[in-house]
Amino acid sequence: MSDVEIIHVRRGALLHDMGKLGVPDHILLKPGKLTDEEWVAMRRHPQHAYDMFSSIHYLRPALDIPYCHHEKWDGTGYPRGLKGEQIPLAARLFAVVDVWDALRSDRPYRASWPQEKVLEYIRTQAGTHFDPKAVELFLQLISEKSRMLNRRRRYFTANAAWVRPHGSIT
Ligand SMILES: [Fe+2]
Repeated sequence: MSDVEIIHVRRGALLHDMGKLGVPDHILLKPGKLTDEEWVAMRRHPQHAYDMFSSIHYLRPALDIPYCHHEKWDGTGYPRGLKGEQIPLAARLFAVVDVWDALRSDRPYRASWPQEKVLEYIRTQAGTHFDPKAVELFLQLISEKSRMLNRRRRYFTANAAWVRPHGSIT
């Protein structure tokens, strides 16, 4: 991706769920499971985002993510049921990150999942929910990031003389 495309990806990622402004609060904030009817309203949020932002010229190229982040590789997603590479690349990449973030976070109706469980789930969804290449890239990125964090942790542990016992840095 070019630098300009990355700017659009960033904007799209920031705006990805803005369409939820068009979903009533009693649905968005409902602690329990949604009814079929409520799911219909919830699944309109990508279309709401498109309708809200598509007339804003500079945001138009950033709409792939808000409009298509719930499409699925096998064509069973929404709002348009796009399949495979019909789904814009930015949205295919973002879909993996979005599900990872959702499952790693507490929700009113369930506690966050541990990292390994989430990664295993994402692996099982390659080729159905997600573009298999996007999953491969994501897992690679996560493993590099965790190697980097472990290296940093080892460094701080080895240089712990300047770290107070309760963990705050002097
Ligand atoms: Fe969403």
